[in-house]
Amino acid sequence: MNILLLGGSGQLGREILLQTPPRVRVAAPGRDELDLAAPDAIEALIESQPFDVVINAAAYTAVDRAEEERDRAFAINAEAPRR
Ligand SMILES: NC(=O)c1ccc[n+]([C@@H]2O[C@H](COP(=O)([O-])OP(=O)(O)OC[C@H]3O[C@@H](n4cnc5c(N)ncnc54)[C@H](OP(=O)(O)O)[C@@H]3O)[C@@H](O)[C@H]2O)c1
Repeated sequence: MNILLLGGSGQLGREILLQTPPRVRVAAPGRDELDLAAPDAIEALIESQPFDVVINAAAYTAVDRAEEERDRAFAINAEAPRR
């Protein structure tokens, strides 16, 4: 099985990586490889490899700043998962 894990460096993502059996292949691109604030890149990545499953553990979690960074919060938490 081929899994694309988004947010592999976060609390949830790190735990998922720890729990993943060795036979399962997991690609966990970091923010430097895929910035979810620029969702156009997501489709290209998903189409570049035959992933069986996409796990989205990435999120804009700076809730105190979300109202000031409204567009960024929506891009990461709404538009990116939609893509
Ligand atoms: N922690 C929990 O106990 C828990 C429980 C249930 C549900 N959840 C949900 O799981 C999700 C993640 O929570 P968390 O606690 O793991 O949060 P977190 O520790 O803040 O991790 C957020 C992850 O999202 C990535 N990310 C943020 N902005 C990004 C961007 N623009 N491009 C690419 N990656 C980006 C971060 O990458 P960087 O490392 O580069 O910042 C990090 O890997 C949230 O939706 C949360 O509600 C969490």
